Amino acid sequence: MIGSKNGSPATGGFPQTRLRRLRRTPWVRALVAESRLAPADLIWPLFVIEGKSEKEPISSMPGVERLSVDLAVAAAREARDLGIPCLALFPNTPRERRTPRGEEALNPENLVCRAVRAIKEAVPEIGILCDVALDPYTSHGHDGLLSEDGRILNDETVEVLIAQALVEAEAGCDIVAPSDMMDGRVGAIRGALEGNGHKDVLIMSYAAKYASAFYGPFREAVGSGGLLKGDKRTYQMDPANGDEALREVALDLAEGADMVMVKPGLPYLDILRRVKEASGAPTFAYQVSGEYAMIEIAARAGAFDRDKAMLESLLAFKRAGADGILTYFARDAARLLSA
Ligand code: PBG
Repeated sequence: MIGSKNGSPATGGFPQTRLRRLRRTPWVRALVAESRLAPADLIWPLFVIEGKSEKEPISSMPGVERLSVDLAVAAAREARDLGIPCLALFPNTPRERRTPRGEEALNPENLVCRAVRAIKEAVPEIGILCDVALDPYTSHGHDGLLSEDGRILNDETVEVLIAQALVEAEAGCDIVAPSDMMDGRVGAIRGALEGNGHKDVLIMSYAAKYASAFYGPFREAVGSGGLLKGDKRTYQMDPANGDEALREVALDLAEGADMVMVKPGLPYLDILRRVKEASGAPTFAYQVSGEYAMIEIAARAGAFDRDKAMLESLLAFKRAGADGILTYFARDAARLLSA
């Protein structure tokens, strides 16, 4: 029954409280919205290739293309104009430059370093993030060095990652993002940055990075997928674990990370919330390639409205506590948000 018999409202609950009053009009919805999404929340990952005016489609990521450096510079201008604060650059290293030990990662003239310099020169006001991990450079597709019997060598890998981070910092990269999940790499990289005149370079650690099937399209994009032998479960986290994410995050912050990341995104919103609450540190979510593919391909198949699904998925990260999101939708989302 609505109300009480004599007309005096019952205390508490309905009808004193009608939550739909707060949803009735756009202006009141805007007024009471708890989370907001803006272009400033977004980091846009770009895949870079050799050549000039070259674009290549990525079959598992319809709508995303690998870009030669000159086109990446043009994309950086677009990002800046849309208010996107930062790009993440991933190289598709030519096959002949991939080796068991990934030496190309340490070449100051490698693709990603050239892209960083070109973008920094043309668009100095945009931030640039680079992965620290060997998978775009190794002939076996792993993030680290392999022993003869096929194990990933932690400490030996960390030594190479230090050198890779320094090469990226020298090129002008603003944020180095260790995505390799070796133990101790954040502290080692922080020490090397401090000791080599790069004390202001930020570290965003892929702190809680899970061994996920959702990275499949990324591996196609950087060309490591076909090369990968085995899986990454001896270094990336077990999707069964949540407490362990908090231990990873605490260690990385203690070792000198400025920001932490949870990856993948939507299937791990519980981890994102826990990390943000426990650490209070700037916390980022990576809406990874497989998540992009799920939304984009389903929308192209007519399952739902692409733009709405895209914005809803991104807002969910903000609600769960993310300070920002790495997303292949960054440009399209920023366009919609600033329209
Ligand atoms: C490499 C790296 C991966 C991603 C970012 N950096 C893949 C992997 O660890 O295998 C995944 C990003 C995505 O799927 O969009 N260390």
